[in-house]
Amino acid sequence: MFDPVKAWHEEHMYFGRLLALLQHEMDVFATGDTPNYSLMLDIIEYLRDYADQYHHPREDAVFAKVLLKHPDRRLPLARLQQEHRVIAHAGIALQRMLEELQSDAVLSRSEVEVAAATYLVYYGNHIMREEEDILPLAAKALTPQDWTAAAAAAPGGEDPVFGKNPKARFHELRRRIALEAA
Ligand SMILES: [Fe+2]
Ligand SMILES: [Fe+2]
Repeated sequence: MFDPVKAWHEEHMYFGRLLALLQHEMDVFATGDTPNYSLMLDIIEYLRDYADQYHHPREDAVFAKVLLKHPDRRLPLARLQQEHRVIAHAGIALQRMLEELQSDAVLSRSEVEVAAATYLVYYGNHIMREEEDILPLAAKALTPQDWTAAAAAAPGGEDPVFGKNPKARFHELRRRIALEAA
């Protein structure tokens, strides 16, 4: 039977793996070498395509259900929703910079490092707080009907990298993930 909490947790693990790959490329950047910009852009594109458009809206719908049962959690839930908006904007900013770097534009190193660090740290903390505070709470508080209603309230979309029918344009990203896992 489909377990929504397990699926939710798995997506966080996937995102964590991609953020670690992104961090690795930023470590290469720190040494002065050229990182793999196309891999970095694939990661951001995936997170923008899938996490921003489907994972986060689904969470927003789940948070609304959790709030009904735990009104005392209003502030942390609102904060996580705000973070979804910040993550989306930070992702766009970082994507633009990486696209410029890939086309050999000259950008200040620190500007790129700040944008990447903001994205990586913010995203990592966001996922950690959801995992520690909200997943266990939702697992206890929500009924199967709540999960179904929350899923229906958000747009549904297939994961183009980790899903059953991965998209061809993410082939290289999948290859890199498989290499990391080996
Ligand atoms: Fe989230
Ligand atoms: Fe999440």
